[in-house]
Amino acid sequence: MLKKKIKELLKEKPNTQAVVRGWVRTVRDQKSFAFIEVNDGSTLGNLQVIADANIPHYAEAMSKLATGASVVISGELVESPGKNQALELKAKEIRVLGTCDPAKYPLQKKRHTFEFLRTIAHLRPRTNTQGAVLRVRNALAFATHLFFQQRGFLYIQTPIITGSDCEGGGEMFRVTTLEKPDPEKDFFGKSAYLTVSGQLEGEIAACALSDIYTFGPTFRAENSNTSRHLAEFWMIEPEMAFADLKDNMECAEAYLKFCVRYVLEHCKEDLEFFDKFIENGLIGRLQHVANSPFAHIPYTEAISILKKSGKQFEFPVEWGIDLQSEHERYLAEEHCKKPVILTDYPTDIKSFYMRANTDGKTVAAMDILVPKIGEIIGGSQREERLDVLEKKIQDFGLKREDYWWYLELREYGSVPHAGFGLGFERLVLFTTGMENIRDVIPFPRYPGHAEF
Ligand code: 4AD
Ligand code: MG
Repeated sequence: MLKKKIKELLKEKPNTQAVVRGWVRTVRDQKSFAFIEVNDGSTLGNLQVIADANIPHYAEAMSKLATGASVVISGELVESPGKNQALELKAKEIRVLGTCDPAKYPLQKKRHTFEFLRTIAHLRPRTNTQGAVLRVRNALAFATHLFFQQRGFLYIQTPIITGSDCEGGGEMFRVTTLEKPDPEKDFFGKSAYLTVSGQLEGEIAACALSDIYTFGPTFRAENSNTSRHLAEFWMIEPEMAFADLKDNMECAEAYLKFCVRYVLEHCKEDLEFFDKFIENGLIGRLQHVANSPFAHIPYTEAISILKKSGKQFEFPVEWGIDLQSEHERYLAEEHCKKPVILTDYPTDIKSFYMRANTDGKTVAAMDILVPKIGEIIGGSQREERLDVLEKKIQDFGLKREDYWWYLELREYGSVPHAGFGLGFERLVLFTTGMENIRDVIPFPRYPGHAEF
């Protein structure tokens, strides 16, 4: 028989037999009966169990029941007199599978700080906030596949261990079996790293299968201790053949909106929780994103907007600078008041693979900046002209032999193509209103932290 979770049990008709399996949130012992709140993670709400003192082995069960204990309780679902839920379970049998010592259990009923909860990442999924985060995260992953599959994109798995540096920032983790690095003697016979992006391999797939996407872990060894950066994060990278920057922007906007609409529709209860306890107005903000066209501003114009803003930025604004989070947030939050797509960045601050514009100083890049987060998507049209790309690789001080296969894609049946990368955790931040990226991934990796 299919084991039903609380989410389904709460939709049953009154007077049905049911079994609930979960962890006790609270027990209220009223002597002749007890209220037991059980949660199994399927939904924010608990199932309230009412246990009469005359059921078999009541006293024994009560002696073991405590917050955190795991239980299997069978009984009958009945209409609840309380107004918090429509149904409650009238217990016939209570089995305590795993006891939990209340004197030692780190998750007390009081509110804990998110910092503290990070130190108990093995238990924090049992909190309301973390449960809601993980359910929304799950919905966003599902929505991602739904969106791209509906558009005919193929899901491609790109390697985690790689020899090539896609983004060229020199911030890669080395993969080695040796104490002292020696590429020739090493496992792969060459230097190997954890990938910063699946894009280059994604391009290989797109140049045969037309439209593809990747969805996998990526790694960056930059020492950025911010609330927006992780050393290990998940990225979704679609890549489209026969596509230019305009097609790319259309796809990115449609994808973001699809995700936002998906959670508004499928994660109502969790979003209401976030709206109430984490970010007042979250649902309104998301509805606004779903319903308004994104703004479009070329980089050069964005620089003049920032200069004219009258704002005192920590990092001075000059054409050619890499935009900082404060600049990105000003543009999205204050100037546009909605997501904005910035295009045509200076060649020097973007990666080697981006397609050169005719002005000789900018590339066909696009970043999507959103309120609260700043950059959530980075993408571009790719340089498909062999000679231009060869020169670019040289200008960037990269070695031609490291990119021989990437260059051959431009030699054999080259096509205009474009793609982007969305940071999955930033999407979770954006849709939940959570403040710190370390709280929207189950096991965050950042400088000094790789426990669990
Ligand atoms: O802008 P990025 O570096 O772009 C790429 O890696 C391209 N290869 C993507 C492509 O065109 N296929 O990274 C893409 C996104 C960023 O916009 C950001 O949302 C996220 O990945 N990101 C991070 N998220 C968490 N922690 C970090 N350290 C991140 N670095 C980038
Ligand atoms: Mg970027």
